[in-house]
Amino acid sequence: MKKVLIVTGGGDCPGLNAVIRAVYKRAKKEKDWEVYGSMEAFNGVFNEPQEIIKLTSKRTGGIHIKGGTIIKTTNKSNPLKFPVAQKDGTVKFIDRTDELASKLKALKFDAVINIGGDGSQKISEILFKKGVPMIGVPKTIDNDLSSTDFTFGFQTAVQIATDSFDKLVTTAESHHRVMIMEVMGRDAGWIALHTAIAGGAEICLIPEIPYDIHKIVKRINSRYNKGKGFVNIVVAEGAHAKGGQVSTVTGEKESEHSRLRGIAFQLSKELKEAGCKEEIRETVLGHVQRGGSPIAFDRVLASLFGVKAFELVLEKKLGRMVTFRNNSIASVPLNEAVREYNFVDKKSFLVRAAKGLGINFGDT
Ligand code: F6P
Repeated sequence: MKKVLIVTGGGDCPGLNAVIRAVYKRAKKEKDWEVYGSMEAFNGVFNEPQEIIKLTSKRTGGIHIKGGTIIKTTNKSNPLKFPVAQKDGTVKFIDRTDELASKLKALKFDAVINIGGDGSQKISEILFKKGVPMIGVPKTIDNDLSSTDFTFGFQTAVQIATDSFDKLVTTAESHHRVMIMEVMGRDAGWIALHTAIAGGAEICLIPEIPYDIHKIVKRINSRYNKGKGFVNIVVAEGAHAKGGQVSTVTGEKESEHSRLRGIAFQLSKELKEAGCKEEIRETVLGHVQRGGSPIAFDRVLASLFGVKAFELVLEKKLGRMVTFRNNSIASVPLNEAVREYNFVDKKSFLVRAAKGLGINFGDT
């Protein structure tokens, strides 16, 4: 029998289970393939004893509608920067990719399908260079991978954010308030921008367009002066003022990334300091954006990615990541897949259209 290993790494995302099920179903049609899953990203391979489970119809049946990942994940065991606690209480990050590559080779998998975001695909590329037969599947609610038009999970996150935004609009209107809703996305403003358009926000702040607080106050005042006594703002967690800093959670040692959080409160404070007299309330949406069932679009995209990933294995087109571009499923070499991030282009039609709809980015 031939064997393929599935790994889910980094933050979870709606649609991971749909990819797992699609790989399993497509592989089963071939009769001579078995599908395995490494528990909690590559920890299942590192751990002694190893935690690698055989996937079966029972384990994968109907999971495409379930959030999370049945084989678990972690964003705290990047093999390139693996956190090791030191005696003095500090954490040292070490490169364990050589060890991982030799463990994977010893397991004799014919292919390893790594479902993950930019960090995970960088690991895929390195493992491939070290001789491991890798295939990448792009995943992230942030939509920040440049070689695919959409990653699965993004549309679900936008739907969740939009549903929440709609609820904030009615309470903003009743109380004549300024409502600030903080959404995820790390350094990219995709979730914020799509939510602002879908929800009809007055103001949208994204990392790619640093804001001027006085311009935001001007926009708020003009709404109130016209008698439209409420304002709804969507702010991306990585947004910041011109020359300002992003808002982060401090004091976390075990992660290589600082956690972005709190811009809603920072913005609220800056607005008051800049003279905004209106009553302001803040909502930080957080991880609800990553939880629960994927919407139909993401189930379809994730399923197509899963089938394509296994077909690349069959065709021995290794060292590639599946993509969705110009309405078709294709693939790119891993080194191309991770070359650059996908940021919102402030000159794009999307931003111009948002401005055409009256959305203010704090820059004019
Ligand atoms: O990359 C996905 C993401 O949800 C980001 O939008 C967010 O900044 C980060 O992960 C949160 O990570 P954690 O789950 O470690 O809090």
